[in-house]
Amino acid sequence: MNLTAKETSLLKDLRSQEQLCVDKYSKYAAEACDCQLKELFTQRGRNESQHIQTLDQIASGAVPQMSGSQASPALPPQTPGTCSAQDRQKDAFLCSDALATEKHVSSGYNTCIFEFSDTNVRDALNHIQKEEQQHGELIYEYMSQHGMYS
Ligand SMILES: [Fe+2]
Ligand SMILES: [Fe+2]
Repeated sequence: MNLTAKETSLLKDLRSQEQLCVDKYSKYAAEACDCQLKELFTQRGRNESQHIQTLDQIASGAVPQMSGSQASPALPPQTPGTCSAQDRQKDAFLCSDALATEKHVSSGYNTCIFEFSDTNVRDALNHIQKEEQQHGELIYEYMSQHGMYS
């Protein structure tokens, strides 16, 4: 498969967004107080690394085959907390920022999908976008479970 210059440049942009996600989730997993949230961020960081691998595959001209069903990931189990109100406030800030990042990345995929000519590449990008939406949903669920929405 040959990519156009525009496609190559879009992949590069998506890759740098994904790298930012990996970096944020690693930093936020270290910074979060609640263990459930640490685990949530750690798992999402792993997903973002996989996205980078898929983008690299596409950039190298390979057409990734996305495996069939896309089961929604679940929230990690709740853990008994000893976080102070101030810690919880910091955790809520990390969640809001991660949620905003997921929204941004998801819309980036949405825009890029329209620019690619290969159907399998579109499917792969669509698969990743769906996962970004799931990430957003999980963070939302966590926030709502912990009363972080007023
Ligand atoms: Fe991602
Ligand atoms: Fe994500």
